[in-house]
Amino acid sequence: MSIIGVGIDVAEIDRFRASLERTPGLAERLFLESELLLPSGERRGIASLAARFAAKEALAKALGAPAGLYWTDAEVYVEDSGRPRLRVKGTVAARAAELGVSSWHVSLSHDAGVASAVVVAEG
Ligand SMILES: CC(C)(COP(=O)(O)OP(=O)(O)OC[C@H]1O[C@@H](n2cnc3c(N)ncnc32)[C@H](O)[C@@H]1OP(=O)(O)O)[C@@H](O)C(=O)NCCC(=O)NCCS
Repeated sequence: MSIIGVGIDVAEIDRFRASLERTPGLAERLFLESELLLPSGERRGIASLAARFAAKEALAKALGAPAGLYWTDAEVYVEDSGRPRLRVKGTVAARAAELGVSSWHVSLSHDAGVASAVVVAEG
């Protein structure tokens, strides 16, 4: 196995919140319902959502940021332990397959008004 790509991104949480409030339908274009909602059915907090946005940007960078990736073809889900993982399909899976990526690593963080993520693509 070897590292095929790495990506990093940061998102200012207040600016991200304002974008979501300003643009109807944006949340649904960026996220799957499984990302927008917590297992309890409540909406996910904005900092945690901004970190998921950063993860998708970081994932795109790890793939060389080609045009044509759908945001909802990448999903951040959470293992029972609380560890976030990435699942891909469609446009993102196709680009990953082209590059030989077979597994993903993701780490999220949010503090001091900023959310961030790092993604590593392994193959
Ligand atoms: C290229 C892109 C990632 C840049 O992101 P951004 O938020 O505008 O800018 P950031 O400040 O986070 O990152 C800028 C850095 O991205 C890096 N970058 C630019 N093009 C890149 C590419 N094709 N591949 C990897 N990294 C790239 C550069 O290093 C740049 O810094 P520099 O200009 O100082 O060299 C963004 O324009 C983009 O295409 N996003 C992907 C959207 C997408 O595909 N979404 C669906 C994913 S599931």
